[in-house]
Amino acid sequence: MAKPVLEVKNLKMYYFTSRGVVKAVDDVSFELKKGEVLGLAGESGCGKSSLGFTLMNMPTPPGKIVGGSIKIDGREIVGLPENVMRREIRWQKISMIFQGAMNALNPVYTVGYQMIEPLLYHKGMEKEEALNKAQRYLELVGLDPEIVYRYPHELSGGMKQRVVIAMALLLDPEVVIADEPTTALDVIVQAQIINLLKKLKKELGLSMIFITHDLSILAEVSDRLAVMYAGKIVEIGDSQKVYYEPAHPYTQRLLSAIPRLHEDVEKLEFIPGQPPNLIKPPTGCRFHPRCPYAMQVCKEQIPQLTKVDEDHYAACWLL
Ligand SMILES: Nc1ncnc2c1ncn2[C@@H]1O[C@H](COP(=O)(O)OP(=O)(O)OP(=O)(O)O)[C@@H](O)[C@H]1O
Ligand code: SF4
Ligand SMILES: [Mg+2]
Repeated sequence: MAKPVLEVKNLKMYYFTSRGVVKAVDDVSFELKKGEVLGLAGESGCGKSSLGFTLMNMPTPPGKIVGGSIKIDGREIVGLPENVMRREIRWQKISMIFQGAMNALNPVYTVGYQMIEPLLYHKGMEKEEALNKAQRYLELVGLDPEIVYRYPHELSGGMKQRVVIAMALLLDPEVVIADEPTTALDVIVQAQIINLLKKLKKELGLSMIFITHDLSILAEVSDRLAVMYAGKIVEIGDSQKVYYEPAHPYTQRLLSAIPRLHEDVEKLEFIPGQPPNLIKPPTGCRFHPRCPYAMQVCKEQIPQLTKVDEDHYAACWLL
């Protein structure tokens, strides 16, 4: 059995806002094995990006890690000083393709200029060596290496997304978090980017956390699947099991809301009610106000992840 490259235990990250404390990541535990893709799904606002940033040990202000542990290759990173994170861990051990990053490329600098910066800074490379490496990585993601001399506005959306992927790989990290890497791209480019990520996973032996609200993509790319609801992981396990035999009522609803090919759109179910307010989340099971099976215990006590089957866990009092 492959050893985990990433071990997350009881992780909590809250945003301390003037309106109150937003519990965006609340007691999350999971493991990521070497060479594995873990898909992370859940409705908008459930905390997927927040979890991604937290794993990089850089929650967006006013966010703070308030508890738990993140180990990369056995090394604890919660509590590490920022200079150590920068020098030894971030981008080098764990990196992230940010949600919407392709639109955040700096328009006034060439692609090459933006790519070599971390190589000069982290690896102390000379400019020419860094430029060579940037070009190698552009080729790796299927782009013409001459793109280093172009500006972001001269590239298509798909090309920009490939640049952003190359940037995340540049310091040869072991774990890559890809946050909605295909959203905002047309379906053909979406498929190309997914194939590229699959290829990179295989060729580089990458371990990946693939975030998207689109479960149909996740079933295709992930070895394991985690479903998040209101800051918590409510189901996790082998992706085929989670996808085809979902155990948690929320996962069941989420899956029945996906339009499948040839299915009558009229028949699609939607999840009634609103995603909860994370400042004052529902007591007990956070899904109880929207769950058709809610019982008294659901309102009172928080269900923990329980084994459903081999490598398949869900947090629900029905189990
Ligand atoms: N910087 C911030 N300050 C305060 N609250 C925040 C901040 N960033 C996110 N939140 C809140 O934290 C919760 C989780 O947000 P997050 O962006 O992690 O969701 P998400 O699952 O990535 O959603 P999406 O699918 O739309 O990208 C939301 O309630 C959001 O409003
Ligand atoms: S614990 Fe209760 S409310 Fe929550 S999903 Fe299960 S049955 Fe529904
Ligand atoms: Mg997000």
